[in-house]
Amino acid sequence: MSPDNFDILARLVHRRAGIVLTQDKRALIERRLVPVMRRFGFKDRAQLMRELRLGHEALAACVTEAMTVNETSFFRDADLFARLGTEILPSLLAARAKEKRLRIWSAACAAGQEAYCIAMMLDSLGLAREGWNIELIATDISAEAIARAERGFYSTFETQRGLSDGDLAVWFRAEEGGHAIASHLRGMVRFRRFNLLDSYGWLDDLDLVLCRNVLIYFDGATKASVLERIAETMAPHGMLVVGETETAPSGLYRALPGGDGIYARVPVRRLKSA
Ligand SMILES: C[S@@+](CC[C@H](N)C(=O)[O-])C[C@H]1O[C@@H](n2cnc3c(N)ncnc32)[C@H](O)[C@@H]1O
Repeated sequence: MSPDNFDILARLVHRRAGIVLTQDKRALIERRLVPVMRRFGFKDRAQLMRELRLGHEALAACVTEAMTVNETSFFRDADLFARLGTEILPSLLAARAKEKRLRIWSAACAAGQEAYCIAMMLDSLGLAREGWNIELIATDISAEAIARAERGFYSTFETQRGLSDGDLAVWFRAEEGGHAIASHLRGMVRFRRFNLLDSYGWLDDLDLVLCRNVLIYFDGATKASVLERIAETMAPHGMLVVGETETAPSGLYRALPGGDGIYARVPVRRLKSA
C-alpha cells in the first residue's frame, strides 16, 4: 500500500472510530483488508481504495470494523474479577441498598464475555429474588461482535479461556462445537452497537463502567474525551475499570489502591472547582 493510501485509510479509521493505525502495522492492516475485498467483490486493494475515496459508506464502515481488535476472554484479568466480587460490587450494592437498582455498562464489550461474567457474578448473588432491578448494558462499535454477543454462543476454545467446568455446568448449555449462555443470563444483558465517539446522552447514573483494553487504540485527545464523557455518565459513587495497561486522568478519577485499573469517580463538586 502506498504511503498516500495508508494515510487515507488511517485518517478514515481515526475519524470514524478514534483508532490510531501506525505504519509499523502496515502488513497486518493489509491482511485485515483481504476479507473486506472479498466481501465487496473487489479484485484488488487499488479498487478498494478507489471506492473508499469515492465515499462508499458501507465500505468505510466495514473497513473501520475490520481494523478493530476483538480479543477478549471470560474473566480476563482474574485478579480484577476477584476484586469486583469481594470489594467493588459489594460497595456498589451498599450504595444502592435503598433503591435496589444497579446500572452497569460494559463499554467495548467485544463478543460479550465481560458482560456475561458480570451477569454470572450478579446472578450468583440472587439479587433478582431480593427485588433488585439490574441493568447491564454492553456496547461495541463492531456489528459483528454485538451479533455474536447477542447470540451468546462460544466455541470450546473460547470457553476454555477463563471458565471452569463448574461455570459451564451452571451458566451454559452444551451445543455442537461449544456452549450457549443460559437464556436467563442472556436476558440480563442489553447489547447495543455504540461508537465511543458518539453521544453518551442515553447513559446516566451508572454505578460501574468497564472500559477495558480499548483506550490503548486511541490517541491522547480521543482517550481524554472518552474518559471525560464516561465520568459524566456515572453516579457520584460510580466506579470505572480500565485495562491493566491503561490509566484514567486524576482530575476526573481517583485510582483505588492495589492497581487492577479500578478508579472511583472524583465528586462533581471538585470537578467544578478544578
Ligand atoms: C480488545 S477488545 C476489548 C474487549 C473487552 N473490553 C476486554 O477487555 O476484554 C476492544 C474492543 O473495542 C471495540 N472498539 C474499538 N473502537 C471502538 C469505538 N470507537 N467505540 C466502541 N468500541 C470500540 C472493538 O470493536 C473491540 O471489540
